[in-house]
Amino acid sequence: MYNALVVSPFSFLTEGGKLKKTRMSLFSQHLQLSVQEERWHFRDHKLVAAREEADFEHDPIMPRFLKVLGDVSGLLTLDAGCGEGYFSRILARLGARVTGIDIAASLIEIARTKDPEGTITYQVADLSQPLPTYLNHFDLIVSHLVLNDVYDYRGFLTTLGSVARSGGRLVMSLNNPYSYVVRSHITNYFDSGKAFPYRGMAEEGVKVHFYHRTLEEYVEACLSAGFQLQHLLDIPTPEGTFKRRSDTLLPVGYQFPFFMLLMLRKP
Ligand SMILES: C[S@@+](CC[C@H](N)C(=O)[O-])C[C@H]1O[C@@H](n2cnc3c(N)ncnc32)[C@H](O)[C@@H]1O
Repeated sequence: MYNALVVSPFSFLTEGGKLKKTRMSLFSQHLQLSVQEERWHFRDHKLVAAREEADFEHDPIMPRFLKVLGDVSGLLTLDAGCGEGYFSRILARLGARVTGIDIAASLIEIARTKDPEGTITYQVADLSQPLPTYLNHFDLIVSHLVLNDVYDYRGFLTTLGSVARSGGRLVMSLNNPYSYVVRSHITNYFDSGKAFPYRGMAEEGVKVHFYHRTLEEYVEACLSAGFQLQHLLDIPTPEGTFKRRSDTLLPVGYQFPFFMLLMLRKP
């Protein structure tokens, strides 16, 4: 039995509690940064399973994400950075015709086992690289909590721009880059491009990095990829929906959005 752990750009499978590390990506220097020398021991990771079993009540993002998508039935939909297929399965149940793509072969393998009927098309690919098979193809592209984890985010957005059909939509959830300061992940908002560990995951014995970029850079990359920004939605994360650390720069009772949704359209 495999336990999936969503990480990027590596991904991992544990078998019988033993760790098996798989190099999932070609892109390079940043991987050195990662964790090659580390031995990661972690107990069975419950995050993925728990999320699947929970209703959306305590999920600050997904209900809003689905609301802004509206009716997805029949839409040719790409789940960009689908991981083990959580969002792909939700959208397929809602009638979308879903293709899930992720750079991590081990996660795609798990995603396929969770879709035994083969309703969803899964593919392993680095979305920072061109994807000519799907040129101008998708009505809808979704990407849930991926952008912060992508090393070449400009390449990623360029690819998404090329595979969206004219009039197609791109909707992405992401960690609000401003919140990285508030959460004391980083001390300098303008320290763009650096990799930083997700400390919550690190505390669980898993070293995962994100790449900090400013919101200005993300928006500019979306526009350069040919998208028009239609809406930006700040997602409230009230007390209790996040782990309050002692170094969180947010007084108790204050509210700050830790996540956001970007809604874009290809003209
Ligand atoms: C935090 S996970 C989110 C996974 C999934 N969207 C979910 O909500 O479960 C980020 C995902 O982005 C994928 N990823 C990172 N860089 C990628 C790239 N260049 N191309 C495709 N997938 C990528 C990782 O492998 C990982 O599965």
